[in-house]
Amino acid sequence: MNDTSKTAGAAATQTLTVTDNVTGKTLELPVRQGTEGPRVADIRRLYSDLGMFTYDPGFTATGSCESKITYIDGDEGVLLHRGYAIEDLAEHSDFLEVCFLLLYGHLPDRAEKEDFEQTITMHTMVHEQMRTFFSGFRRDAHPMAIMVGVVGAMSAFYHDSTDIDDPYQRMVASHRLIAKMPTIAAMAYKYSIGQPFMYPRNDLRYAENFLHMTFNVPCADLRVSPVLARAMDRIFILHADHEQNASTSTVRLAGSSGANPFACIAAGIASLWGPAHGGANEAVLNMLREIGSKDRIPEFLKRARDKDDPFRLMGFGHRVYKNYDPRAAVLKDSTDSVLDELGVRNEPLLELALELERIAREDEYFQKRKLFPNVDFYSGILLQAMGFPTSMFTVLFALARTVGWIAQWKEMIEDPVQKIGRPRQLYTGEARRPFVPLGAR
Ligand code: SDX
Repeated sequence: MNDTSKTAGAAATQTLTVTDNVTGKTLELPVRQGTEGPRVADIRRLYSDLGMFTYDPGFTATGSCESKITYIDGDEGVLLHRGYAIEDLAEHSDFLEVCFLLLYGHLPDRAEKEDFEQTITMHTMVHEQMRTFFSGFRRDAHPMAIMVGVVGAMSAFYHDSTDIDDPYQRMVASHRLIAKMPTIAAMAYKYSIGQPFMYPRNDLRYAENFLHMTFNVPCADLRVSPVLARAMDRIFILHADHEQNASTSTVRLAGSSGANPFACIAAGIASLWGPAHGGANEAVLNMLREIGSKDRIPEFLKRARDKDDPFRLMGFGHRVYKNYDPRAAVLKDSTDSVLDELGVRNEPLLELALELERIAREDEYFQKRKLFPNVDFYSGILLQAMGFPTSMFTVLFALARTVGWIAQWKEMIEDPVQKIGRPRQLYTGEARRPFVPLGAR
């Protein structure tokens, strides 16, 4: 295979020539260059022309779609949403503004921002009948199990926004999901602790409203700390979207069959739950508690290096980032200020995490494999300090990621080349063989 990119004076037409050394057949594959990032070889004619599939378990080198929403440079540790750096958005923007950006492609002007915030606010309540839906769960159900069930059930309540071919209904469904995820997440938490649900309030902003529904009770009127509301909003920004990760790819694949948006987001929640993906933030806290003290760090790093030990250093490593995850850097920096605001001094888990990161990053195994802290390494420490139980960490990730999922789903639906996703395989099972009657087995 060689790259026959021609850089003639005319518009450079780039191709990749593949030659099958069994048949001697040659195929010129078109090569495309995006705005940023690696070029891609368009392999759509590989099967029709050469009778061959590609093989890429885990899609380590496969582009599943064209997208304009998020760009990641894993080597440089860069994350852009519609061209804006995550550090700038975390510092200068707010979550609903980032939602608008992801959905519509530009930062809203003042009128657009106010209109969008008002629209989302007007959708924060859930159908009253959904409250009884919760009572079917055990009180000790994992909140992610509740989220998968309740979000999927939204398609049973909002029939007027399930027609994916109607742009208006797609927009309403997007707004409903962004607006109602905090309400459902707070209800999942309240249900797990046996407290009454709190209704959203129209006078509170998005993150503040979520903290109100989560931590307030009907017999009090606790004021949400502005510092915590800002920290929550920033955590949501940092988790909003991340290119074609496992859960986003799940949402796209589910949506490619024409499934309604609520069912697609429920599929994304299910995929995010895995400890290798969004479930890692919960796994990091459990791991830090298991390590317990700095003197046990070498023991656990030894286990992480051991191929025969399934233990992995949770919150470390990433399929794309081979540098520091920029989101982890922002979270690490904001952890100190939030702990100060909470009056938490010398949080032992934070001290342990900082020491674990220091030692791991000096370890040859981690250096050679370019394993750095990812978004999940510090988020749990912050969330625990804010009062969330470990079981709610991935729920918060799902709450924030809903806008990324729905923006990617919308982009897929509106993509003219989009068709149902249907990967092929390398079959290594039995060749055709005659049936054997029971008596002859
Ligand atoms: C998220 O894709 C996204 O964008 C996801 C996400 C998002 O915003 O959507 O960023 C959110 O999911 C972050 C990742 C959270 N997961 C964890 O923190 C779990 C711990 N990390 C690993 O499981 C792992 O790093 C993955 C799953 C994140 C990435 O795995 P890859 O890309 O399949 O890499 P790999 O398994 O091929 O690892 C390469 C090598 C292997 O060693 P060798 O076989 O080459 O000797 O690195 C080793 C791995 O064993 N390795 C680790 C490790 N991560 C990779 N060894 C010890 N501890 C780890 N954490």
